[in-house]
Amino acid sequence: MTITITGGAGFVGSTLAVALRREFEDVRIVVLDNLRRRGSELALERLRTEGIAFIHGDIRAKEDFSALPQCEFLIDCSAEPSVLAGYTTDPDYVINTNLIGSCNTLAYARRAGCRVLFLSTSRVYPIARLNEADYEELPTRFQWTASEPASGISAAGVTEDCPLDGHRSIYGATKLASELLLTEYQHAFGVDHVIDRCGVLAGPWQMGKIDQGIVAFWTLNHTLQRPLRYIGFGGKGKQVRDILHVDDLCRLVIEQIRHFDCFSGGTFNVGGGPDRTVSLCELTELCRNATSRTTEIAATEVDRPADVRIYISDNARIAALTSWRPRLSVEQTVDDVSKWMTDNLDRLRPVLT
Ligand SMILES: NC(=O)c1ccc[n+]([C@@H]2O[C@H](COP(=O)([O-])OP(=O)(O)OC[C@H]3O[C@@H](n4cnc5c(N)ncnc54)[C@H](O)[C@@H]3O)[C@@H](O)[C@H]2O)c1
Repeated sequence: MTITITGGAGFVGSTLAVALRREFEDVRIVVLDNLRRRGSELALERLRTEGIAFIHGDIRAKEDFSALPQCEFLIDCSAEPSVLAGYTTDPDYVINTNLIGSCNTLAYARRAGCRVLFLSTSRVYPIARLNEADYEELPTRFQWTASEPASGISAAGVTEDCPLDGHRSIYGATKLASELLLTEYQHAFGVDHVIDRCGVLAGPWQMGKIDQGIVAFWTLNHTLQRPLRYIGFGGKGKQVRDILHVDDLCRLVIEQIRHFDCFSGGTFNVGGGPDRTVSLCELTELCRNATSRTTEIAATEVDRPADVRIYISDNARIAALTSWRPRLSVEQTVDDVSKWMTDNLDRLRPVLT
């Protein structure tokens, strides 16, 4: 069997490639990436050492898929993953990669006759719906108190039944549109797929830029003692996210590959869940402990576009199909990120400039 990972030099893609290489000894792993993400070039040595083939290619270019070998399984990890993309930059890149790129990826999957695992995002859920859910303000965090089942939002998190009307960011829209296309490709052409809507993912090999994720960004700026800022929702750092360690995601993907038929055609929220949540000011505390450093933190009360007060994944649907559960705590995740950054600071510096 051959497994292709698009975006396989990125944070999630390269970590998955290595995990799959170690899990499935007889399987060939091939990754395709255009190295747009600064720092993904650092993953190339890691991939080579593990015997993973790398193809320099761009999913926006249909012809680049001709360099790929025949494969039985494709994992789509290539994306512009920033929710701010298109607000602070021209929207062309996020639309061309996340949407046109998905069209090309699906056309390839149809030709190859392969199964597809699509890494989607919690950002498909509409912003107003998340921000208008009932909540209370605790000393260090906001907490949902919503209990109206039709909203799909409760203290246990967001379910896949959360209604999808409303705006969700350009990034979220490209991901949702790709999900819809996947469903059409399954019905029209029999392309089997699974969609994992991930909440915040974190772990080693995140480069510490804000567009790649809050945990690594916050940890790096503590490590380097660079100033930070609580932005929006009153500027107190009380906004909350659930955090899933990338190693926990890898365990799930391995199970989804092994027992694909159990998951086929499904859309699943996949995140740290209610037991692995953290607010920004609580994250500050964890970063102080992990790095033994403090940094100056300013405040901006005004909200940013596309920001949400609380997001927590309700993993009930996926948990009903598998014994998989997240294992690593938020504290362990921050410790792992901090250790990796400290060990790799010299290699990271050019990436950060
Ligand atoms: N990191 C998170 O918290 C998170 C949360 C939810 C969903 N996701 C999804 O997981 C996937 C992986 O995200 P990540 O965090 O590893 O991001 P990343 O930026 O580290 O990795 C994305 C990779 O895709 C590559 N890429 C970008 N444009 C490309 C193109 N046009 N052609 C080929 N390669 C291209 C980049 O060079 C990079 O190596 C994405 O689909 C993202 O939407 C991530």
